[in-house]
Amino acid sequence: MKDRIYIKDLKENIGKEVIVAGWVNIRRDQGKMVFFDMRDMTGLVQCVALPSRIDVIEKAKEIRPEWVLKLTGLVNKRPDKNIKMDVLNGELELEVTNVEILNKAETTPFQINENSIGVNEDLRMKYKYLDLRTERMQKNIRMRDKIISFFRDYMHKNDFIEIETPILMKGTPEGSREYVVPSRLFSGQFYVLPQSPQQFKQLCMVAGFEKYFQVARCMRDEDTRGDRQPEFTQLDFEMSFVTQEEVLEYTEAMFIELVKNVYPEKKINKIPFPRISYKESIEKYGSDKPDLRVDKNDPNELAFVWILDFPMFEKNDEGELQAVHHPFCSIKDEDKEKFLKGEDLFSIRANAYDLVLNGYELSSGSIRIHEKEIQKQVFKLLNIGEEEQKKKFGHMLEAFTYGAPPHGGFAPGIDRIVMILQNEPNIREVIAFPKTGEGKDLMMGSPAEISEKQLKELGIKLSK
Ligand code: AMO
Repeated sequence: MKDRIYIKDLKENIGKEVIVAGWVNIRRDQGKMVFFDMRDMTGLVQCVALPSRIDVIEKAKEIRPEWVLKLTGLVNKRPDKNIKMDVLNGELELEVTNVEILNKAETTPFQINENSIGVNEDLRMKYKYLDLRTERMQKNIRMRDKIISFFRDYMHKNDFIEIETPILMKGTPEGSREYVVPSRLFSGQFYVLPQSPQQFKQLCMVAGFEKYFQVARCMRDEDTRGDRQPEFTQLDFEMSFVTQEEVLEYTEAMFIELVKNVYPEKKINKIPFPRISYKESIEKYGSDKPDLRVDKNDPNELAFVWILDFPMFEKNDEGELQAVHHPFCSIKDEDKEKFLKGEDLFSIRANAYDLVLNGYELSSGSIRIHEKEIQKQVFKLLNIGEEEQKKKFGHMLEAFTYGAPPHGGFAPGIDRIVMILQNEPNIREVIAFPKTGEGKDLMMGSPAEISEKQLKELGIKLSK
C-alpha cells in the first residue's frame, strides 16, 4: 500500500497527516466521539473519530473488532494529562480524517485483544490464524524468528554452510516410529520422512563440506507431549576433524552469545556450564535431565548442564538391545576393548553428550564412527545381520571406505529452546501451526482420508 506507514513510526510524524492500515483491536464509544485502537504488526495506536467529521463518525460507529481498515489521520500529541509514558504511542493519538473499510470480520470465537492461554486449546487450534493474531503468540513467533536468525548468522560467521537434505528418504534409526510416504511410481515401495538428517549430515562430512548446519524439520511418529511434536525443528550441525571438547566449547559459546544478544534480561547461573557424567547424573538426581536452577520460580534463570559419557547400549521395552542415542556414535577409548570383544555391553560408553537446560533435554550429539569395521561391529552387537546391514546402511558403510574424515556434531531442538526462553509451558505455544496431543491439525483437518483414485494410483488397498 503506497504511502502507508507503520504504527510504530507514528511518533516521528506528529503534526502530519498519515495513512495506516491494520485491524480494529477494540472500540469504545464516549458520548459523541468514538475511540478505537488500531493494530498492525508493529503495535497499537489509539484513534479518535470526532463528531465534526460526519462521514468518519458514521463509519466509526459501524466498525467492529478485527475489521480491516485503511485510515487517514492526523497524528496529534495527547494533552499532558492523557499521556501514558510506558506504552507505544502513549503520547499521541490519531485523529481520523478518512476511513476505508478493507474487509469486515465475524465476531471471533475468542478475544484477540487478550491472552488466549486460558481459551480451550482445541478452539485455539481450529482458529490458529486468529490465535496467532494475539499479542503473546505474535511475540513468540517473532522471537522464534530472532533466535533462528541469530543461529544462522552465528553458524555462517563460523564458516558453516546450510545444506538442505532430503525429506523423502529411507528409514534412519533414531529410535522412533517413522512416517511413511507411498511411492506412486514404485508401487509397494515407500519413502520415509527423516527423524533427523543424521545420515545426510555425516555424508556431508564425507563429501568434504567440513562444517554443515541446517534448520532442519524432523518427523517422528511418537506420542506427543508438552515438549514433543510429531514435527519439530533442530539446529542440526556437524563438523569434521573435531574433538568432543571442541563441539562442547563451540555450542556453549553460541548459547552464551544467544542469551547475551537476544535475551539480555536473563541470567545463566553457571559459566562455564557444569559438566557431569550420565552415571553421576542418574546417581545424584535420578535423571539424565537434572534441573539445576536455584530458584525455579525465577523466569530469568537459565541453568545449562552438560551430561557426558552416555552408555552406548540399552535394552528397549521389548527387551531388545538398542543404541541409547543412535548406532553412529563412537566408543570411548577406555571401553574399546570390551566393545571389540562384545563383552559387558551395558558398561560401554559412547562419546555422546546432551545439553540440558532447566530440566529439559535441549540437545544430543556425539563424535561419530568414521570407520567401516567399527560401524559394522556396532551393527553386529545390535543383532543386525550382514544382509540387513547392507540393505539398510550399505551407503554409510561404503561411504566410510572413501576417505571419511573423523567428525561429530550436535542438534539442539529449536522448539524447546524458544519455549524455555519465552517462558512458555509447552512447545505448542512457540510453533505457528502445531498439532494437538493426538497429532491432529484441527484447522486443516489432518490426518485425513484420501480419494479412491489416489489410493488406486498408489496401489494401496485399505483393510476394513
Ligand atoms: P535427538 O533424537 O536426541 O538427536 O534429538 C535432538 C533434539 O531434538 C529435540 N527433539 C524434539 N523436539 C520436539 N519434539 C520432538 N518429538 C523431539 N524429538 C527430539 C530435542 C532433542 O534434544 N541426530 C541426533 C542428533 C545428533 O546426534 O547430532 C538426534 O536427532 O531438543
